[in-house]
Amino acid sequence: MRRSCNREIVVVLGVALVCCFWSWLPVLEVEATQVTYDGRAIIIDGIRRVLFSGAIHYPRSTPEMWPDLIQKAKDGGIDVIETYVFWDLHEIRRRQYDFSGGKGFIKFLKTVQNAGLYAFLRIGPYVCAEWNYGGFPVWLHNLPGIQLRTNNQVYKEEMQNFTTLIVDMCKRENLFAPQGGPIILAQIENEYGNIMGPYREAGKEYIKWCAKMATAQNIGVPWIMCKQSDAPYPMINTCNGFYCDGFKPNNPNSPIMWTESWIGWFKTWGGADPHRATEDVAFSIARFFQFGGVFHNYYMYHGGTNFGRTPGGYITTSYDYDALLDEYGNLNQPKWGHLTQLHAVIKSAQSVLTYGTYSTKLLGAGLELTTYVNNGTGESICFLSNANTVNDTNIVLQSNGNDYFVPAWSATILANCSKEVYNTAKVNTQTSLMTKKPATTDQSEHNHQLKWVWKPEPVRDVLKGWGPLKVKKLLEQKSTTIDVSDYLWYMTSVLVAKKDAKKAILRVNTTGHVLHAFVNRRLVGSQWGQGGNYGFVFERPIMLKPGQNQITLLSATVGLQNYGPFFDLTPTGIAGGPVQLVLSGNVTKDLSSNQWYYKIGLNGELMQFYKDIKIHHHKYWRSKKLPINRPMTWYKTTFKTPLGTDAVVVDMVGMGKGHAWVNGESIGRFWPAFLADKKAGCNDTCDYRGTYDPTKCLTNCGNPSQRWYHIPRSFLMKNRSNTLILFEEIGGNPSQVSFQTVTVGTACGNAYEGNTLQLSCQGGRKFTAIQFASFGDPQGSCGMFRKGTCESANTLNVVRKACLGQERCKITSSEATFGSSKCNGNITRRLAVQAIC
Ligand code: GAL
Repeated sequence: MRRSCNREIVVVLGVALVCCFWSWLPVLEVEATQVTYDGRAIIIDGIRRVLFSGAIHYPRSTPEMWPDLIQKAKDGGIDVIETYVFWDLHEIRRRQYDFSGGKGFIKFLKTVQNAGLYAFLRIGPYVCAEWNYGGFPVWLHNLPGIQLRTNNQVYKEEMQNFTTLIVDMCKRENLFAPQGGPIILAQIENEYGNIMGPYREAGKEYIKWCAKMATAQNIGVPWIMCKQSDAPYPMINTCNGFYCDGFKPNNPNSPIMWTESWIGWFKTWGGADPHRATEDVAFSIARFFQFGGVFHNYYMYHGGTNFGRTPGGYITTSYDYDALLDEYGNLNQPKWGHLTQLHAVIKSAQSVLTYGTYSTKLLGAGLELTTYVNNGTGESICFLSNANTVNDTNIVLQSNGNDYFVPAWSATILANCSKEVYNTAKVNTQTSLMTKKPATTDQSEHNHQLKWVWKPEPVRDVLKGWGPLKVKKLLEQKSTTIDVSDYLWYMTSVLVAKKDAKKAILRVNTTGHVLHAFVNRRLVGSQWGQGGNYGFVFERPIMLKPGQNQITLLSATVGLQNYGPFFDLTPTGIAGGPVQLVLSGNVTKDLSSNQWYYKIGLNGELMQFYKDIKIHHHKYWRSKKLPINRPMTWYKTTFKTPLGTDAVVVDMVGMGKGHAWVNGESIGRFWPAFLADKKAGCNDTCDYRGTYDPTKCLTNCGNPSQRWYHIPRSFLMKNRSNTLILFEEIGGNPSQVSFQTVTVGTACGNAYEGNTLQLSCQGGRKFTAIQFASFGDPQGSCGMFRKGTCESANTLNVVRKACLGQERCKITSSEATFGSSKCNGNITRRLAVQAIC
């Protein structure tokens, strides 16, 4: 029987923690949170909620970064943290699991809980996510009789086994809301509706089975299926996309949910940097809530870094995504601030949005006015949106006679349907331009004077054609390597008659991604696929000798494909070839059915050159004659940990392609030699108006797709030196490699007359210069401001006085502050400032 006790209720997370006190020891009983839904909203403990959620994938940062990222999301008005679960990370070999360190998704969920936030667990376990093989462990591919993502018994057993394991782990830790935990939602499969057609009837059966299997897990919170218009009840069908304002779920009893609101986009090798304007993102979100939306999840809130070999096909190591927090966890301003304000405005109207009645009036020329009213409480909120892509509008509302200025492609939110509290295009948050500075160390020396040592990748065996596997055909790469490495060596020898011992052509038909060809121990050429087009035909003139000629081909993958119908079957490597020699007189000799020898991976990988451990004693690293532009070379240097707390990056300018490790931890693949297409269509200015697509606001054309690589501070030693080891595959020059820190370089602000401009540097730094300040009609944007036709002569002085030497400053934008601007009466005056941190 229970003893009675003094109870005290502490509300954390909207969850009542009942603390039970007797004698000295408090016993915590965590109270259950009930999560249900109806056609209007997700209902938590009986209350309909509007919820803002943000994706932070635990393996794209480090456990040391998690608390800060999650706290920043909370500060930004986020209620829910969403993550996928990455099957390949955890079930490395069949039934062999790893949940250690950065793979500790339970610890991640507990960090979310400790921050007082809810969690949304997208189990998948197919996840897409620009992740290698869409999150599937590659060993699945080789299971006899398996067909992935369809009504196939072998696959379904594996999927069910992993899903159950994850659910059980969460249950054991009491992580589901009814157990007092943070998880309020879960997802099964991922956008299957997009690719279901080609799977025909089996696809339909599979989705029904997914729903049944998920429901049987009995987790006590709703399951969702995204982009699944035939999602069986009680699965909630949800929307993913750049815009979801027209979305209606397939069941009138399901709430309108946006599970992936694409805040930006990902980057590929050879691609430019995608950006999506803050004004457009805010517009899309305001419109979603205007038309009945109640759950909104940012994909991504923090994109982060693709460490190791985790990214999918041809995706860069950076997964910045132009998210609200940048790759390193800094606030991406003005996005973070402008959207934080939007969250607050929408959340303040939770009750009327979820309990009120609503109707929309078309006012012509793209203008739509939606009124939400709660007749019981008399509360109301209005959304006035202008979907016109060019015309700004002034409109007088009949209901109150007020005049509102609604810029093109923007939405205004009116508290009580009267006072403008937010407009998606009127950005008041500062813009921060990040900069990279040379890292300083405790010895106040710059780290860019690095001393390098090197060693060649041992290739004697493969150049002689020695490999442990022998088959008379050209094998598909991932079935052979099970993707334990990017690399597979294909080796054969060919007997050449005296008459053919001259110039010939080596032709290799490969599915990509990268090919290096060696003939008689010499590299004869390297080639890789451009953009999304991975496969290519390699052709090089070669010299044949009489007798045996050794042909050694190294095929490299750069992440396995992650999306599309039957994407898992996309062949990799030289897969069937053909590999041919074109001899004199155009005679073709097909080598495809020759005796081929195979070796998986590099010797340096097998011997773990990337870990600077004793058995690879220093003497094996050479310090003399540092080679430049030498393919297949390992480089090593040491460096001191940069001072401070700013994020650390290594600038890999000058290097070719390869993989980098710091103190044995992978910081990912590098490929600065791969330049973003000059003609990709980059723009200095980005017009936020009109429907976004990822080709719209690109920057960085003609430069390396990725030059800087994140080194999380937790990879670095406190008071000792660190080791950077590079494997260079195609040839590079390490002499320009340097370490830098990332910080706010420039802060810009903009405030219309009557408003207050607020600026701040991050991390305790102070303003050192004011580059521009004008109160009048200044033109341009951050980094490119210029004076307009009129201004107050005193602006610069006033701003200097208020900001210089300060971490943050506040200035009222008015003639009272700066003196007369002498602007014409019809000019809307504003203050623009550009300051250096
Ligand atoms: C979606 C997918 C996500 C991600 C996104 C693009 O289709 O569900 O996992 O791949 O596209 O970033």
